[in-house]
Amino acid sequence: MSQNKKVTQINKAVHILSSGGICAIPTETVYGLAADATNSDAVAKIYALKNRPTFNPLIVHVSSIDQAIEFAQISTDHQTICSYFWDKNLPLTVVMPLRDNHKISPLATAGLNTIAVRKPSHPIALDIINRVGLIAAPSANQSKHISPTSADHVRKSFGDNAPYIVDGGPCTVGLESTILDLSSAKPCVLRAGGVTTEDLDTYFKMPLSIASETIKAPGMMKKHYSPGCPVILNAKTIKPGDILLGFGPNTPECATLNLSPTGNLTEAATNLFDALYKLEAMKPNRILISPIPMIGLGIAINDRISRAASHD
Ligand code: TXA
Ligand code: MG
Repeated sequence: MSQNKKVTQINKAVHILSSGGICAIPTETVYGLAADATNSDAVAKIYALKNRPTFNPLIVHVSSIDQAIEFAQISTDHQTICSYFWDKNLPLTVVMPLRDNHKISPLATAGLNTIAVRKPSHPIALDIINRVGLIAAPSANQSKHISPTSADHVRKSFGDNAPYIVDGGPCTVGLESTILDLSSAKPCVLRAGGVTTEDLDTYFKMPLSIASETIKAPGMMKKHYSPGCPVILNAKTIKPGDILLGFGPNTPECATLNLSPTGNLTEAATNLFDALYKLEAMKPNRILISPIPMIGLGIAINDRISRAASHD
């Protein structure tokens, strides 16, 4: 896209958001459905368009730690954690206690006394935050559908109801941020994501606990990322009408797509949601997915595909 066109799109998004509207913006993880986080009328439009339950709070996006300090109680230790990951452009969301007298819409926090905060590294997202202020943004897909990693996915997920979209091209990470709860005594991972457990262990010098299905992140419902047909993991036989999403060099030749022919998990993460959108459009009876190792980004990939495979 030309620089002029990009500037026009960003200006339009800034205008929409500053006037209480919503629009989709690119981040390095997935596209977000953005609103001014301090404007409850605007935030309500996110829940309505996504058909998202209002008990499921939103992440507030900032462009600096100083901006987060205005509404979150961040100890100096927690500031060090944020700087470590955010300065490396790693997609970490942290959950912290809210301050008194903060300006965030109670709809964005779903009435909790904690708040999820993230600094995206995508230059368009940062530019928009710098010009509009705090941005609440869930992934820009219908609730329970596949997360979007391109402008086209946002259009596909919302159809005729699609919002204005700033097209920043495909997302580089391709999986949502890792969510780390810093609001209790011991840090705990609420959602595996673009920051690997190995990255976290290197910082914390010990393995962190991972939240169980008894959910602390209210959005971690089992059924999610659904491509509208059964998804089968580690399938042994392929039946007529099935299509196979492969991974790695040992993938059978009949596979329709391969997340990474060389078995590279970073590449597979980037390609995952795009592959699910492509396969969904083929309207198969079932989507079978080859085994993916449970290391590095494989942990977050397996989390997403097991939710895509869930019936609950
Ligand atoms: O990469 C991302 O995180 C993307 C981009 C757009 O930034 N956003 C995203 O938002 O994935 P969403 O709404 O699809 O997922 C946010 C998750 C939900 O599971 C929600 O329940 C959880 O964060 N969450 C939000 N606030 C929370 C809080 N105070 N405590 C625990 N979990 C929280
Ligand atoms: Mg989401």
